[in-house]
Amino acid sequence: MLEKELAKRSLPDLFCVPGKKTVTTKDDWESIARPYWRRILLQEEYGMLPPVIEPEICVKANAINFAGKAMWEEVSFKFKRNGKEHTVPAQLIYPKGAKGCPFFVYLDFYPEIPSIYLPVEEIIDGGFGIFTVCHKDVTKDNGDFTDGLAGLFREGDRTFDDTGKIAYWAYMTSRMMDYLLTREEADKNAIGVAGHSRYGKAVLLAAALDERFSFVCSNESGCSGAALSRNRCKGAEAIRDICGAVPYWFCPNYLKYVDNEDKQPFDQHCLLALVAPRRAYIGTAVEDIWGDTESQFLSCVAASKAWNLYGKAGFVSPDRLPVCGDVFTDGEIGFHLRAGEHFLSRLDWQIYMQSVRKFLDK
Ligand code: GCU
Repeated sequence: MLEKELAKRSLPDLFCVPGKKTVTTKDDWESIARPYWRRILLQEEYGMLPPVIEPEICVKANAINFAGKAMWEEVSFKFKRNGKEHTVPAQLIYPKGAKGCPFFVYLDFYPEIPSIYLPVEEIIDGGFGIFTVCHKDVTKDNGDFTDGLAGLFREGDRTFDDTGKIAYWAYMTSRMMDYLLTREEADKNAIGVAGHSRYGKAVLLAAALDERFSFVCSNESGCSGAALSRNRCKGAEAIRDICGAVPYWFCPNYLKYVDNEDKQPFDQHCLLALVAPRRAYIGTAVEDIWGDTESQFLSCVAASKAWNLYGKAGFVSPDRLPVCGDVFTDGEIGFHLRAGEHFLSRLDWQIYMQSVRKFLDK
């Protein structure tokens, strides 16, 4: 049944790269397809990533310790370029005495700790560390490209493949990864990246591009995130909607695909496939019609074959569309569909933590 559903989407084949032989092995994937999808997605959708600049780091302890269970430090990243500078504060919170513990690099809507989407105590109790940043400290969620990190890199008007805001947010999570790798509290092989909705899109991009992330938890990322855009479901967000409301999330080239999804040389399964052979967890909610659960699910089905090249199962699910309460975590791609609305809930975090534990315990 799922094969039929996928056929209705007429997706570009992950293994067919224009002008090259068809990909049949992991080596072909790594030398031909992966660089191609990476380039196409940046050039046509998110914009090119800014060059890496090494920030000056300053660490300050915070006395709040969550009933003595955790340590909390503020880590500031001072970036300097062309006579300008911008400092991004991030919060590092980890179980007291942690050594080699799994971590979430987390991109938040809100500056508060904990925030409505970030239940710090539950995550610490789950044995995970958190390294969190509020998006607006990186660059604000608007069309102002003089703001924050964007202001360091901006040169003139935005054209073609210029970095969009999603790519700036993704870039920052990689700088946080650079720092986390210097800390003995973190298990270098168990650092993932997590985010909800627009930040679910950004973290999927981050994990697709930065292979040091062992896993990604992309919650209800929807259009231009995990959801396929060809033949989307009724009521779901389209490229026309997203480019009409928030064109600055993307590069100007993406506008070419408004009402023209079939002309995209890619679809969102290509982004998900770039995470192979690592772990990707996609969370969805039944009432999130705008986020298009079914198209996110089918993206998992379509991306799975990239994992198969590594001799891995990829996405394991019954041969049917998902129903409320489904949690599929047997393969490297995890998917859940919970009851309720668009939100990053306690239940979502519990499922992500259990899924990550499952692979760490293997
Ligand atoms: C809007 C937008 C979505 C986005 C969501 C969010 O609804 O259309 O694409 O995911 O905001 O970030 O909450």
